[in-house]
Amino acid sequence: MAKKSSPTRNLALELVRVTEAAALAAGRHMGRGEKEEADKAAVDAMRLIMNTIPMEGVGIIGEGEKDEAPMLFNGEKLGTGALPKVDIAVDPIDGTRPLAAGRNNSIATVAVAPRGTMFNPGPFLYMNKIAVGPEAKNVIDINAPVKDNLQKIARARGKDMDDITVVILDRPRHAGLIAEVRACGARIRQIPDGDVAGALMTAWPDSHIDVLMGVGGTPEGVLAACAMRAMDGTIQGKLVVRNEEEERRGRELGYDLDRVLTLDDLVSSEDVFFAATGITNGDLLQGVSYFKDGARTDSLVMRGLTGTVREIISTHRLEKLAKISPIHY
Ligand code: FBP
Repeated sequence: MAKKSSPTRNLALELVRVTEAAALAAGRHMGRGEKEEADKAAVDAMRLIMNTIPMEGVGIIGEGEKDEAPMLFNGEKLGTGALPKVDIAVDPIDGTRPLAAGRNNSIATVAVAPRGTMFNPGPFLYMNKIAVGPEAKNVIDINAPVKDNLQKIARARGKDMDDITVVILDRPRHAGLIAEVRACGARIRQIPDGDVAGALMTAWPDSHIDVLMGVGGTPEGVLAACAMRAMDGTIQGKLVVRNEEEERRGRELGYDLDRVLTLDDLVSSEDVFFAATGITNGDLLQGVSYFKDGARTDSLVMRGLTGTVREIISTHRLEKLAKISPIHY
């Protein structure tokens, strides 16, 4: 039996200020076609708030590499330097393109886990993924045919195949996957971007999404895994090799490219914290809304150890913030 103790600090309640700040700063760029500027605003805001949090953090996942966007650097020290020692994963904007275009489903996310417990993706930017909520967490196998997985998920969820909804990133690389899902008779929800939210939706009772499948970013896979710890769902991944150079570097670094990355591999501790704030409206979260002198944000705050998931709606007084903050909200 787990050792009982007094309730301990919930770092996620501090992390939500990080994602709120990123969302408030990035939200100003909605629809302006300014991917780089939006990313920079989110990254700067994240870094500023993150460095006020008592923790000795190391950035394991800084994002940005794939798009050569401004980023929190892998290996960067974050936090005040006080204990606890933690690994940090950030995606200041998951959905930079939809934000720049003024479309739905972009969020700011961060996750924290004890030092040494997060998967380091190394040179691998992409991962094949399958993610499900609690009822189906013991039946999936990323190596199994799509049909087998969908049949097992349907059984675990007490549904017929034609009730099952699969969320898939809208990419040409998924043409084969989409054909297989269609052949099974399941429904498909294609999302233009944002597979962190896509994975979370599978464990979110109101979304009626049953499974996420397909290839997306590796950083996003680790972030989703941290949230799944709290939501009691699961995710499996397999690294995707894009070219010979990536394969060579990966093998030199000791990566096993055939290995199935389980939830335990992606984040080996239960003691994780996750926060996300909507930047533009989405399935899980409302985007930032601005009004006279203020703004409203909608966030999710999760803790793996307790499984508590909070939704936090905050009102920010921008004229007050302008007096004390170097960030332009
Ligand atoms: P960013 O906005 O952080 O670049 O990621 C958006 C995203 O849709 C992720 O959610 C997803 O994992 C990844 O891009 C997929 O990569 P690609 O757009 O290259 O197919």
